[in-house]
Amino acid sequence: MNFTTIRWDHDEGALVLLDQTRLPGEIIYETCRDFQSVAEAIRRLKVRGAPAIGVAAAFGVVVGVQHSRADDYASICREVDEAADVLAATRPTAVNLFWALDRMRRTVREHRGVPAEDIKRALLREAQSIQAEDETTCRLIGEHGAALLRPGQTVLTHCNAGALATSGTGTALAVVYQAHDEGKRIHVFADETRPVLQGARLTAWELARAGIGVTLICDNTAAQVMKEGRIDCVIVGADRVAANGDVANKIGTYGVAVLADAHEVPLYVAAPFSSIDLSIASGHEIPIEEREATEITQGPGGRTAPEEVEVYNPAFDVTPARYVSAIITERGVARQPYAESLDALSHKVWEPYVTG
Ligand code: MRU
Repeated sequence: MNFTTIRWDHDEGALVLLDQTRLPGEIIYETCRDFQSVAEAIRRLKVRGAPAIGVAAAFGVVVGVQHSRADDYASICREVDEAADVLAATRPTAVNLFWALDRMRRTVREHRGVPAEDIKRALLREAQSIQAEDETTCRLIGEHGAALLRPGQTVLTHCNAGALATSGTGTALAVVYQAHDEGKRIHVFADETRPVLQGARLTAWELARAGIGVTLICDNTAAQVMKEGRIDCVIVGADRVAANGDVANKIGTYGVAVLADAHEVPLYVAAPFSSIDLSIASGHEIPIEEREATEITQGPGGRTAPEEVEVYNPAFDVTPARYVSAIITERGVARQPYAESLDALSHKVWEPYVTG
């Protein structure tokens, strides 16, 4: 891609993020030198998208201990836990956040009795592995998913599950990029994705930069384009997938899924295994983030609703598994019944990622 979503700055020992709240108008990189600013960047959606949140949080832990004076195992453990607790409190839905933080907590605990500087180096290596694995995962999701697309097809997507949401080419959009590279001439309809407009500001931006045909639509146009027979399939990402295949993703995904079902359009979910939470049986158990009312009441041009109006602003919804035609993961494509297919993929012999 011709931009970098997340980068570790070795010289500064800092995390550099492309500030996604400024897109598409400005390309501004923000340098985070403490874990609190990484947490704030996640909370304010400067970095967003489930896999990218996980990678950023892992480096957030590294930033936290990198410049500390902690010089023994116990104090590093304390500092890692403090940073991880603050980072974990930023956004509740994307399970990748907790998955990545667990890996960081585990790493420090595997280094009891090791000199402090070596533990810090091990934490950096772990964050770099999480990032490198994410890159590979995106490529594999792209390859598995592209096999489902035929030349000339049109894909509808919701929110942004692209390079901006990962350290690689994305999940849903990795499929599009891969199919495009295979010469399949794929066109994308991007829902604008109210209220934060990830589809308009981010998906349309990155697809256009990659030279992929994209048509932006209002969220409430999705039914019409499906009725006009212009959509061959829907591909979306996921923030958390339950063991039964229920999928939490950006608010509005559930509506798109119901529409796709009504128009007999397949809906594919593209997600890394780090977004699959086999510890929960169904989507009922997925915590849904609620965000501030101003996301809805304040548009770019100013206030769009009366000050006193009551607002309900869940950032995600849960699509029941019955609406999901397939779940595309790096390990392969899962089909219904998901309780069996996801379990089988989770037990698949899986070579560890080779990292540079
Ligand atoms: O609130 P966001 O922008 O973090 O929501 C992002 C999504 O819902 C994505 O579809 C999901 O995280 C998958 S990203 C590969």
